[in-house]
Amino acid sequence: MAGGGAARRLAETTQGREGLMPTDIAHRFLRVVEAAAIAAARTVGQGDRHESDRVAVQAMRSVLQTVPIRGRIVIGEGERDEAPMLHIGEHVGIWQHSHPTVAIAVDPLEGTNLCAKGKPGAISVLAAAEEGGLLNAPDCYMEKLVVGPRSRGRIDLNAPPAENLARIADSLDRAVEDLVVVVLERERHERLISEIRKAGARIHLISDGDVTPCLSACITGTGVHAVMGIGAAPEGVISAAAVRCLGGDMQGRLVEHKAGDRSRAEKMGVADFDKVYTAEEMAPGHRLLFAASGVTGGNLLRGVQFWGGGARTHSMVMGLESPRRVRFVDSIHLDEGREVEIRL
Ligand code: FBP
Repeated sequence: MAGGGAARRLAETTQGREGLMPTDIAHRFLRVVEAAAIAAARTVGQGDRHESDRVAVQAMRSVLQTVPIRGRIVIGEGERDEAPMLHIGEHVGIWQHSHPTVAIAVDPLEGTNLCAKGKPGAISVLAAAEEGGLLNAPDCYMEKLVVGPRSRGRIDLNAPPAENLARIADSLDRAVEDLVVVVLERERHERLISEIRKAGARIHLISDGDVTPCLSACITGTGVHAVMGIGAAPEGVISAAAVRCLGGDMQGRLVEHKAGDRSRAEKMGVADFDKVYTAEEMAPGHRLLFAASGVTGGNLLRGVQFWGGGARTHSMVMGLESPRRVRFVDSIHLDEGREVEIRL
């Protein structure tokens, strides 16, 4: 039997200490993204992105309130005025004194258009860390460059796309022509797209949702070798947490889009707006956790399936704990009162 000291140490690691986040909270966060994914999936193809987002936010918040943490939203649906729930600064969790303090970045429905139109790639996602472990990015744009573990240390956001592509190709021991780069299909990317084409790499243009491609770029076999271009900054920080958990590499630079972006960033503690941030600077937490659940099916996560009695979700959960684990979780959720009947 464990002695008093050992038992106390065990209790500390399983229940958490002040300021630290126990990794076994990961499965609680899994439940959070699963619930949001199920709620959003009920609205797939209904053409109402705001309603899809609303139900995902509601479901995510209600399960977050059952997690034994003193959580604070650092990236959420926006500031208090415009976001009734999961706004920046909102406290979530059971919030007892003994619970660990946790900074949380959420995107209850990443790819609202994808969900509303029934297109692939919508997910529900959450990243968490000890206080100070996630950059408080303002809701502006961010220029992003993401690659997988084998290309770590080879990228430079200040270099032209052709140079980055040559380095990525070299690290993967393949020709530039054999690379696939994911880029959001936007007018602002016309020049980037033509430079990537000129360099000879192939492009996968996406209409929305650049978090999943960032994960894919870090996973061999997905057919994605890099993500380039400008997307939302909050999604950039969430992606940085995932990239760290997957051993990939990322650089990001905030992009001024509308008046007030710089001053809001400064108020949120961003000292240098024009700096190129690494994944480690965007998500510096030592106790990072990342969880995502598919809403509509994609190349990484399957979407929610319903069969009149329950739902089946497909999710990813990972952190930085040693030994490293990346879990793909296939869950069956039975409606109240339903007997267990699992079909493959
Ligand atoms: P939603 O907020 O509608 O889910 O959109 C998310 C997203 O597609 C991100 O994945 C991406 O970074 C950003 O929006 C792109 O922004 P914009 O549509 O303004 O180009």
